[in-house]
Amino acid sequence: MANLNKENIPKHVAIIMDGNGRWAIENSFKISEGHKKGVLTVKDIVEESVKQQLSSLTIYAFSSENWKRPRSEINAIKKLVIDAIDEQVPDLIEQKVRLKFFGHTNDFGNRIIKKIDFAEEKTFVKKSKLDLNVALGYGGKQDIVDITKKISSNILNHKIKLQDINEKIIHESSSVPVKEIDLLIRTGGDKRISNFLLYQIAYAEIMFIEKYWPDFNRNDFIKCLRDFKKIKRRFGKRKVN
Ligand code: IPE
Ligand code: IPE
Ligand code: MG
Repeated sequence: MANLNKENIPKHVAIIMDGNGRWAIENSFKISEGHKKGVLTVKDIVEESVKQQLSSLTIYAFSSENWKRPRSEINAIKKLVIDAIDEQVPDLIEQKVRLKFFGHTNDFGNRIIKKIDFAEEKTFVKKSKLDLNVALGYGGKQDIVDITKKISSNILNHKIKLQDINEKIIHESSSVPVKEIDLLIRTGGDKRISNFLLYQIAYAEIMFIEKYWPDFNRNDFIKCLRDFKKIKRRFGKRKVN
């Protein structure tokens, strides 16, 4: 499919990639096969994001609540993260996609931490075609707690004054690399945020898609971008026509 006209295209897109488990069950596969298929969808959507010239794509890979899942599933996801980095880093470099992980990544252990460092270092470019931000062990509430601790400690250490706190400082203290999301997509049919980017979606357009993440494809994504282009964003202002 051709490139969309760049006018009003969302710059910063975020996705809650939901439905891997249900996709696997309905197709009589193991849950881990659903996650595996989900990684292939990520690859396609990243390529399409580069093609459509988005500035950033921020994806929810593992939430702070997902630690409540069975150990076997968590281990399968950890392995998939490592395999995905190994397989996809060369393609990301080629496409000038800068990869960044955010969240409590330290909870995933040394092997993943090292892989993440490797991936971030290898894909680093000053002028990227796309910033791909992956939320891993991320929770929006947890991030707000971390931000509060960071800012409070800077005040106690006299690095900043109470009256200096503003939206810029909150953004800089957050683990989330992107300031403002234009479009948030959730696949899998549920209409909830599940603790994703609470602060950064303040003015995002939100689209809930019925399809499970492994079935979501480039055309579905392009439809979201196209629908976004038709939306009149007002940001509280009074806009005539
Ligand atoms: C999303 O798919 C991926 C993760 C949460 C890691 P799910 O595994 O939540 O899929 P469903 O919602 O059970 O179908
Ligand atoms: C949100 O999906 C988290 C990710 C997609 C990584 P969940 O499946 O964990 O969300 P709930 O449990 O349906 O709210
Ligand atoms: Mg789910």
